This record gives sequence, C-alpha cells and structure tokens, in this order.
Amino acid sequence: MNRLLAPLFLAALLAPALADEAPKPPDPRYETRAEHDRNGIGKFFMGREIARVMGHQAADWLERPEREAEERTDLLLESLAFRDGEVVADIGCGSGFISRKISKKIGAKGTVYGVEIQQEMLDLLMKRMAMFRIENVQPVLGTTTDPKVPPASCDTMIMVDVYHEFDFPYEMIRSMIAGLKKGGRIVFVEYRKEDPKVPIKEVHKMSEAQVKKEMSVHPELAYAETLPTLPRQHIIVFKKK
Ligand SMILES: C[S@@+](CC[C@H](N)C(=O)[O-])C[C@H]1O[C@@H](n2cnc3c(N)ncnc32)[C@H](O)[C@@H]1O
Repeated sequence: MNRLLAPLFLAALLAPALADEAPKPPDPRYETRAEHDRNGIGKFFMGREIARVMGHQAADWLERPEREAEERTDLLLESLAFRDGEVVADIGCGSGFISRKISKKIGAKGTVYGVEIQQEMLDLLMKRMAMFRIENVQPVLGTTTDPKVPPASCDTMIMVDVYHEFDFPYEMIRSMIAGLKKGGRIVFVEYRKEDPKVPIKEVHKMSEAQVKKEMSVHPELAYAETLPTLPRQHIIVFKKK
C-alpha cells in the first residue's frame, strides 16, 4: 500500500472502535439517582423511578390460578370491546396470559402481536398458544426502544402491568405511535398508585396523573378515557390523532 495512504487506512479501521469507547454524554431526558427504591433501576423519567424488568424466571406468577379473581381480566377485555378482525399488539406479553384472551375476542381474521424483549417469554408464549391451539398470535422480539411491529399496522396496543418497566419510556412510546393506525389506541393497565391497599411494590404501581404527565410529551396522542372497571388497576386509554 502507498506509504502516505497507510496511516489513513489504519485510522479508518480504528475509528468505529474508538467511537464506541468514547464516553457518551448523559441523556437529558432521564435522571440517575444514587438513592432509590431497591426494586427500581435508579433511573427516573419525569420524576418517576423506572422499575426493574420482571425476569422470565418468574413467569409462573403471571399464570397463577388466583390471577383471574384478583385482576378480573374478564372485565378488562369486556370494557375494551375488541372488534372482530382487529390487529392488537400485546406489548410485554410475558407468557401470553392476556394475548390468549384477546385472541378469542378478535377472531380468526384478527392478529395479536405478542411483543417481548425476553426471548424466553416468547418461547413460553408460543408453547402455550400451541397447547391451546391458538393460531392468530404472532411472536415479535422487540428492543427496549422499539416493539418492531409493522408501521401503522395496529388498531390497539395494550400494556398490562408493563409500561412502568420500560427502560426508555419516551423512545418506546414514540416507536409504538409509529406502529399504530390513525385513530388507534394505546391502553395502559397499571396498578393504582393512589391506593395504598393495592398489594404491589411501589415502583410497579402508577398514578393516573403520572401516566397523563408522561404522555403529555407526545403531541400525536390524545387522552381518551380512564375506565374504573377493575378492582386494583387503572385502564387508561389514549388515541393516535
Ligand atoms: C410484569 S410482566 C407482564 C406480562 C404480561 N403483560 C401479563 O400481564 O401477563 C412485564 C413484561 O414486560 C416486558 N417488557 C419490559 N420492557 C419491555 C419493552 N420495552 N418491550 C417489550 N416488553 C417489555 C418484560 O420482559 C416482562 O415480560
């Protein structure tokens, strides 16, 4: 190689590696605090601490027999009035407890995208779908910033006990909006922080006011309603304008 060009060639090879090592500036959207809840990750968004992601090792808890009576998922599904043929993304679907129930409401022409960041959860999801002979649920491996569903494809995106675990709530909701059809809805199902009797760890609960505050930074979304149907959880609905 030309002796003049050799150093340039070497620099071009090393540049990506050096760029990776360069310290990243702090993300101004998020705040890190040394003192924080032991069930949280020490990272805060708009004053709220983000919870630790529930590991797939605890998936049995999602399928506990008493869950139906505690959470009344029958009432949840009834109040959301899914239509035949809807495309629904169950974001953070876990082992598919909710996907399974939605799949029945939307019929054979509908689709549920079961979105997860843990492949182990998707493996459990598909095992259960096969067990129940359900064919309209598709597994999707997303990332912490993107659910990886097709653009403008979904009528509904639902998060049951999930949003408070998002490592990047701002980026994740932005990507979710891109995956929604115009007029489509984003549904938050979160344990009521306002109610001290709800037996769930503090960082795994959310108040209605906090959800609304965090959605106020997304001008593409309009608040639609909060349904008072469930014994322990809020159902908070936003629509894509
Ligand atoms: C408490 S579980 C709830 C599972 C399910 N929704 C249910 O109610 O049975 C929360 C799930 O959200 C998933 N999760 C967390 N952040 C996520 C993200 N950015 N995208 C997709 N899934 C996520 C976790 O991996 C975990 O399986």
